[in-house]
Amino acid sequence: MAVDVLLGLQWGDEGKGKIVDVLSAGYDLIARFQGGPNAGHTLEFDGKKYVLNTIPSGIFFDNTMNLIGNGVIIDPITLKREIDKLKDSGHDLLAKKNLLISKKAHLILPTHQLLDAASEKKMGEGKIGSTLKGIGPTYMDKTGRNGLRIGDVTEPGFKERYQKLAEKHVFMLKALYGEVDDFSDREEAFFDAIELLKKFPLVDSEHLINNYLQQGKKILAEGAQGTMLDIDFGSYPYVTSSNTTTAGACTGLGVAPNKIGEVIGIFKAYCTRVGSGPFPTELNDKTGTELRRIGHEFGATTGRPRRTGWIDLPALKYAIMLNGVTQLVMTKADVLSGFDNIYACTHYHYLGQIIDYMPYDICNVEAKPVYKEIAGWQEDLTGITEVSQIPAKLKAYISFLEDQLGVPVKYLSVGPDRLQTLVLN
Ligand code: GDP
Ligand code: IMO
Ligand code: MG
Repeated sequence: MAVDVLLGLQWGDEGKGKIVDVLSAGYDLIARFQGGPNAGHTLEFDGKKYVLNTIPSGIFFDNTMNLIGNGVIIDPITLKREIDKLKDSGHDLLAKKNLLISKKAHLILPTHQLLDAASEKKMGEGKIGSTLKGIGPTYMDKTGRNGLRIGDVTEPGFKERYQKLAEKHVFMLKALYGEVDDFSDREEAFFDAIELLKKFPLVDSEHLINNYLQQGKKILAEGAQGTMLDIDFGSYPYVTSSNTTTAGACTGLGVAPNKIGEVIGIFKAYCTRVGSGPFPTELNDKTGTELRRIGHEFGATTGRPRRTGWIDLPALKYAIMLNGVTQLVMTKADVLSGFDNIYACTHYHYLGQIIDYMPYDICNVEAKPVYKEIAGWQEDLTGITEVSQIPAKLKAYISFLEDQLGVPVKYLSVGPDRLQTLVLN
């Protein structure tokens, strides 16, 4: 048996939550492998909408176990809020016993968030546009070998270790930024939330996953963010602080590379980005505003308006190469209904040349898109339930993309609801 991976191929918010939910019934375990509450994964079914930040998107299926893997970083306060909210809507995870947490997942402290905010404030116009959830500083402490992990919360001396790290952060905040906001309320909430987390199984997740594999159970690894936000391969420094690519599923779960099965890459029929950084196909015009309005492109976590643009094929090809994608999912095709023409960027004008790959520096040197014009479809797609109902012009768009990308589009999403999903191949 192998671990399948589902991950985003663009700049995040491709619809990972929705598609993981759709696929969950076919898996025994859904495991988040990186990122933290910077993620916002939206699911809709039975007329209800849920946004998950840390909890895997398989949580609504009774026969599917869910794991927060070692590569994830956890803000106990946010996680408690998610758990409480789910309980209020009738999904009591403690009673259902369907959530496991890796002992090796690192903790986001209130002071990590203060460091994130102070760093962004200091950078002013040049800021990353982070979600202010403390992601960068927490991964810095992880790689700097200072971090606290979930497994530490049940050890004697946890509070003292917490105090020592928080004091170091306060020292850094004063030295670097000259000020420290009061965080006593958040500190209280942090320890309160830790008590709730202790009630969940805190597990040696790498063993658990490999035991699942040996027993022939089916596992899906759920990515967060997107390939273009990967710490190594994204538009650095405008990236997040983890490996969002397939390799991140290996390190973030303890799965050997030869145990990876299908790699399901998900992309929107167009493109969005939230936060700062290069976005070659961005549309700062009426069309961009229309895409934002029709696609409800506002961040699930921060509510920030998302930047919008046409699909970027050099970036997608790069993402497919890095991840070893074997199947594609296209979401939000319905948002493009009604445009006379749509456009796909096939190349960039870059330093006087025409190139079809993602160059080293797109932060300081302009990569100007070269577009192919494609005839748009006018039909509303949101009620489509059969492949035979797909308009011919959308079929042509999909065939064009498959031809360019060299990977089949297996699923087509035509609305936010679980049921608005078609299997194509
Ligand atoms: P994620 O972070 O990749 O899970 O994506 P988000 O949840 O942040 O953003 C995707 C948004 O698009 C959510 O509001 C989804 O409900 C919505 N969505 C997902 N698939 C579709 C689709 O095919 N059509 C439309 N119109 N909305 C979709
Ligand atoms: P999901 O999983 C879209 C972006 C932020 C910022 C950059 C760094 O919902 O697709 P960070 O807080 O990680 O230090 O911010 O990354 N970002 C996301 N953009 N979707 C996400 O997650 C994101 N998580 C982080 O906007 O530009
Ligand atoms: Mg999101």
